[in-house]
Amino acid sequence: MKKACVYKSLLNYRKKGMSSFHTPGHKNNFLKLKKLINLDYTELKDTDNLYEPLGPIKYTEEKASKIFRSGHSLISATGCTLCVQAMIKLFCKNGGKVVCNRMMHKSAVNIMQLLNITPICLKLKVDKTTNFYLPPDCNEIEHILKKNKDVSAVYITSPDYYGTIADIGNISKICKIYNVPLLVDNAHGSHLAFFKPNLHPLTLGADAVADSLHKTLPVLTGGAILHLKDKRLLEKAKRCMEFFGSSSPSFLIMASIDICLDWLINHGESEFLKLRKKTNEINILAKSRGIVVPLHTRDDTRLCFNVKSIGLTGEDCANHFRKYKVEPEFFSEDFVVLIPSPFNTKKDFSRLKEGIKTLCKKNSVSNTASTRNYAEKLSNDLVINYPPGVPRILDI
Ligand SMILES: Cc1ncc(COP(=O)(O)O)c(C=O)c1O
Repeated sequence: MKKACVYKSLLNYRKKGMSSFHTPGHKNNFLKLKKLINLDYTELKDTDNLYEPLGPIKYTEEKASKIFRSGHSLISATGCTLCVQAMIKLFCKNGGKVVCNRMMHKSAVNIMQLLNITPICLKLKVDKTTNFYLPPDCNEIEHILKKNKDVSAVYITSPDYYGTIADIGNISKICKIYNVPLLVDNAHGSHLAFFKPNLHPLTLGADAVADSLHKTLPVLTGGAILHLKDKRLLEKAKRCMEFFGSSSPSFLIMASIDICLDWLINHGESEFLKLRKKTNEINILAKSRGIVVPLHTRDDTRLCFNVKSIGLTGEDCANHFRKYKVEPEFFSEDFVVLIPSPFNTKKDFSRLKEGIKTLCKKNSVSNTASTRNYAEKLSNDLVINYPPGVPRILDI
């Protein structure tokens, strides 16, 4: 690779003219963001203070709260990581227990380690026909809560990286029976509030939700929100955010959240409806070419392809897409994940379609049997790697 430091490398990358199917959701296409660059101010009397907001930040948080129908919404300029940390500190006792699905972000694992919290993990199950992970099992959550009367919270990551959505409505009912708060890491699902019906976890009954706005919405990288159902927790939540947050939050990021909120009011529902139509077309095309896509309840804007069924690795597929100037979000041994947003252009989608069509023409060795075998292998051999020193994980 030719040596270039950060600024130059970004300029070089931009020149390639790739279609972005990864975060951030603005795709460098949200025109108003260009005007932001000369507004990099700090916390001043006129600009407000993130952790003691009295003016502009307070109004923006109130606007977010109205849009997302929360008791209060707290802005983060250092990602959803900060929201996850604050949410767990706010609701969970130091040294306590939390019920969670095994696929959680390292921000949650690290904070549990720091607060000496023991995660009680749900079993990770795989759909045997597609190899994608299944959503958490409500009966299992209830069984754990019945057996463990000292649980501080249920902490669910939904949607997962592959767009699979948990049954938050039912999990919330179970949590209410056992009087345990339901916390949701909705890093990948901020936009679900603009689906019809609204699929945002807060609307479906969660007590607190962490949204990584920049992943799927037109917000600068680092923009996120912690939503609380109960406004009375606001002061304590601000202290938890301050505890982990930077003392120099970026006003560019916060302003991009503000601009995004206005866009959501006027265009959120209609733009996500259009996007869903486009991604459904892509999924139909992919399936017609023998690519396996997830089947269960999911965010249909998240494109996930299991390409083992056509004899490819995720890396082969990602490299092939790049030839068509399509940059995916992620690949693994068998999967490729793409994150489209309403800011992807017609040209972006045409390139992706061409990439899919040519991918299958060159490699038409459809093989669902091997997919199924792989699913069985995965569910038998599953090993989840947590960072060293992570607290004891209680399996039931
Ligand atoms: C499930 C999940 N939670 C939280 C985070 C952290 O979000 P951020 O990058 O905004 O700090 C991520 C980031 O990838 C994630 O995938």
